[in-house]
Amino acid sequence: MNETVLVVDFGAQYAQLIARRVREAHVYSEIVPCTITADEVRHRAPAAIILSGGPKSVYAVPAPSLDPAIYDLGVPILGICYGAQLMAQQLGGEVANTGVGEYGRTTLTREGPSVLMSEWPLQTTAWMSHGDAIASAPPGFAVTASSPEAPVAVMEDVERGLFASQFHPEVAHTERGQELLSGFLHHIAGIPPTWTNTSIIEDQVAAIQEQVGSERVLCALSGGVDSAVAAALVTKAVGSQLTCVFVDTGLMRKNEADQIEETFVRQFGVELIHVKAQDRFFDALAGVTDPEAKRKIIGELFIREFETVARDLALGGEGPKFLVQGTLYPDVIESGSGHAANIKSHHNVGGLPDDLSFTLVEPLRALFKDEVRRIGEELGLPAEIVWRQPFPGPGLGVRIVGEVTRERAEILRNADHVVVDEIKKAGLYRELWQSFAVLPAVRTVGVMGDGRTYAYPIIIRAVTSDDAMTADWARLPYEVIENIANRLIREVEGVNRVALDVTSKPPGTIEWE
Ligand code: XMP
Repeated sequence: MNETVLVVDFGAQYAQLIARRVREAHVYSEIVPCTITADEVRHRAPAAIILSGGPKSVYAVPAPSLDPAIYDLGVPILGICYGAQLMAQQLGGEVANTGVGEYGRTTLTREGPSVLMSEWPLQTTAWMSHGDAIASAPPGFAVTASSPEAPVAVMEDVERGLFASQFHPEVAHTERGQELLSGFLHHIAGIPPTWTNTSIIEDQVAAIQEQVGSERVLCALSGGVDSAVAAALVTKAVGSQLTCVFVDTGLMRKNEADQIEETFVRQFGVELIHVKAQDRFFDALAGVTDPEAKRKIIGELFIREFETVARDLALGGEGPKFLVQGTLYPDVIESGSGHAANIKSHHNVGGLPDDLSFTLVEPLRALFKDEVRRIGEELGLPAEIVWRQPFPGPGLGVRIVGEVTRERAEILRNADHVVVDEIKKAGLYRELWQSFAVLPAVRTVGVMGDGRTYAYPIIIRAVTSDDAMTADWARLPYEVIENIANRLIREVEGVNRVALDVTSKPPGTIEWE
């Protein structure tokens, strides 16, 4: 893959968004730490380099820097925000610590001919977030745009292939941001738009075939998007060698098991071992109310169930040697280090005993979540699986406060189904990060018909988020809340009251336990 763009990370996750935008322009990108040396860059032979923004000032001590020999490699470079200021400073320009910054929407004004913004109008809207500003461009650079507080908002040295933008082209609020990135990649760096769903699938299928040869492969399906897409890719590559395992813990969403059977067995013809372990999970959870204890029990029992299947398969002699894992690119990027192998500690496969020594197959390791969804659709997975909201490994167990029993799990499963169904009907499902029901450990008094009831309340939890690190409670329309509440009380036996969780994260977490 020699059409790779390296995105140099100067901190605070700016690089991830840039890397995603580059992929949206159908060019493969990888995030690398800013400690990368010119030799390492030469060795990787990228087609272009983008320097990300970052939270620091170039005057901070210490401030992240870049090996200056990288500017002389002849690789086109685009510096963004911090990356632009660093380029200016390192190449002999001047960065002023003015104290007057620009935050948010800013008007960008063209200053003379530009290669980077060749067809742009005189003025556009761009998103800025900077305290310092480039006061003068280094020798050889032409200043091609300015903004009220950034005299050098864009500078270009076409001869050397060096470009810098004070504003953030990767942000949706920048009117022509994606156009700027595509222009840099396709026209300036000359990279063809070949990173497509089809090419990703073809490359991964070939890589899986090469890795596993004629050996058998095992995959744990959890009902989530990542394991499903990973399994679908392995099916396309070596379908007859794949065995999928689905452990039903009794804490899955409504119809989840049926949907997995329908998709993987009937549609894809995969061998599926459906472990109906509900009784063992409920037995192990009886009387346990401490959240951490519940998580531990669920995690450990899951591993034991999975291990039993793997051992049974190995008994015949030709057991699986490979284990599929749905690790994604953001799991792989360790903050700041760019490429450290950091295997996801997903409880489904985390901590498998050492004597079950599998080699991991990770076909999604280079992909972002949106890419995973797109190739999932292309592989023929149903929309309900591909667009499913994230679901925690311990399942409904972290949404049942107090004791997890079969009856309480059933109440929550039915309630969850109503919440999700109404959210989908309102067309909000894909906009929300998660939307679900929570079952607290209290009961409340109500009246229904002529009788007094003493039943559970259900709490509606719906949040918006980009990465689950922070989240805001979703301002659901009143009609949607009303429909959910009416249906919960009418349709879900054991429920007589509905509340709405209006806590953001922080201080709350998304899940209740
Ligand atoms: P919290 O509740 O910590 O959750 O705000 C953040 C995100 O992580 C999910 N989550 C889990 N995922 N195993 C998982 O695979 C877990 O044990 C687990 N706990 C929470 C949660 O659904 C949210 O998206």
